[in-house]
Amino acid sequence: MALPAMTCKLILDVDTGADDAVAIMLAALHPALDLVACTTVNGNLPVPYCTANTLRVLDHIGRQDIEVYEGASHPFARDDFPVASAVRDSAGKLHGEVLPVTDSKRAKADMDAVDFLIETYRAATDEVTLVAVAPLTNIAHALTRDPGLVKRIPEIVIMGGGHAIGNITPSAEFNIWCDPEAARVVFHAGFEKLTLVPLDATHQAVVSNASCARLEALGTPAGAAASRFIRRCIAFCDQLGTMQPGTAPVHDALCVAFLVEPSIITTTRAHVDVETKGELTIGRTVINCDRRPGLLPDCDVAFGADGDRFLELLLRTFA
Ligand code: RIB
Ligand code: CA
Repeated sequence: MALPAMTCKLILDVDTGADDAVAIMLAALHPALDLVACTTVNGNLPVPYCTANTLRVLDHIGRQDIEVYEGASHPFARDDFPVASAVRDSAGKLHGEVLPVTDSKRAKADMDAVDFLIETYRAATDEVTLVAVAPLTNIAHALTRDPGLVKRIPEIVIMGGGHAIGNITPSAEFNIWCDPEAARVVFHAGFEKLTLVPLDATHQAVVSNASCARLEALGTPAGAAASRFIRRCIAFCDQLGTMQPGTAPVHDALCVAFLVEPSIITTTRAHVDVETKGELTIGRTVINCDRRPGLLPDCDVAFGADGDRFLELLLRTFA
């Protein structure tokens, strides 16, 4: 596929997952994006399920050329964290162990995801953006194993956290909560450019059942699959009563949309850190927007998103 000028190369770190699947299709199909590879990590589901789902989605849209590297099966530092039960009970229900697309015949890549990230950025001659839409375990391992890595990653975009909103606890968002120590390593690493897309933004770009019907009416594999994946998110949100009935955020895909149309989200410079101790607040992103001594702004944090432009981008890309 001939790529237009100013193509953005990216690696997607995923825990596929229904909304991860929409992000993968957007990254793999948009002409201004060049999806180098996907890396998978324990999160919504145990990592082998995430890997199998990622392979399924890529094959479904004819992108068998994009490799999938499997990563961490457990959190960065904890072995006591009840991720397994949380994944099976809540996120597991939302995403289901197998996404509704045909199985893939091909295998994951032999190399481990963390080694792949380290090797790829060591060898990179072009800029490759890292888009992390899952618990940050792989990224934390890579940064720890290769201290020079942070300077080789020109930009990282993270779906995670929440300021006024939590979704796995009143204080925390799932990706950060799932591995708080990993998130703290990432936010303390000193990235040149870190954009955080928290729930405060993703909840402003929800997709409705009516919009899913428009995606389905495209008559394309991506349109049909996106409709199925997002309807699954809507059914889960309707069950919980967390969103306006018949709508759901597509968290991960909004991060990819930001790469194509940066103004689709509105960001504020802020200092971000992660709670790793609090009994009630573990996994909370502590976002400081005021100028407080010792808390200099170090991230661009999205607090707004344009849902209409997001939907139009999905419809255009999946046509
Ligand atoms: O809180 C939303 C995030 O958690 C998304 O990345 C979703 O896929 C789940 O991983
Ligand atoms: Ca995800």
